[in-house]
Amino acid sequence: MHARVGFLVVAASAVIAATTTAMELPLPMPANHAASPLTKLIIERRSVRAFTQEPVPLDKLGALLWAAQGITSPHGLRAAPSAGALYPLELYVANEHGVFHYKPAKNTLTQLQTNDVRRALGAAALGQPCVAYAPAIIIFGAVCERTTKRYGERGLMYIHEEIGHATQNLMLKAVELGLGTVAVGAFDEQAAATLLQMHKDTRVLYLVPVGPPAPR
Ligand SMILES: Cc1cc2nc3c(=O)[nH]c(=O)nc-3n(C[C@H](O)[C@H](O)[C@H](O)COP(=O)(O)O)c2cc1C
Repeated sequence: MHARVGFLVVAASAVIAATTTAMELPLPMPANHAASPLTKLIIERRSVRAFTQEPVPLDKLGALLWAAQGITSPHGLRAAPSAGALYPLELYVANEHGVFHYKPAKNTLTQLQTNDVRRALGAAALGQPCVAYAPAIIIFGAVCERTTKRYGERGLMYIHEEIGHATQNLMLKAVELGLGTVAVGAFDEQAAATLLQMHKDTRVLYLVPVGPPAPR
């Protein structure tokens, strides 16, 4: 056999052997958790479904919204990745003062309603007390058309993926601030949209109750 061909045959057999013996590599656990703030936040995040009734102060609400969708670049790019940088997500807050809309570009909250809709939102979320009795609920809406007009049906998947990125940022920031959160996907979308007086272009896709964790 020609030497070069022989080498290729041996190399190919090695690749086949490597892929068929299913070698399992033990991975090191992240060393020294306390030394890495991010690792600590990842470990400490757990779904919290019972809160004290203490309101979430505006500075903490702002920090959570910023972590999810705040502007992090001079070009207007945001804290979470977005397919095509089209930014379909719209964030809202429901608390004891009413319903508010977050504007990333100005980093402001605009009051849309003065009604406290939290109990009704809890009812729309199949009666889940974590929604009804949360000090605040962060609502993830999406204007799907912003993404689907470029990416078609696949754009809907991108939006769901993007919500995951933004929510995880928010949840880790919440841990850092001593707040608990839980992702709530089980709710009647139409009932939630009606309560929140959503524009017809905006779908309600995720509810994230937030508050100081109740003592166990
Ligand atoms: C898409 C999605 C929907 C969820 N919906 C709900 C929900 O409606 N109510 C709830 O209490 N938890 C909900 N959860 C939270 C999961 O129950 C929770 O993440 C899981 O039990 C793992 O626990 P951990 O978050 O503490 O790691 C949801 C999580 C995801 C990712």
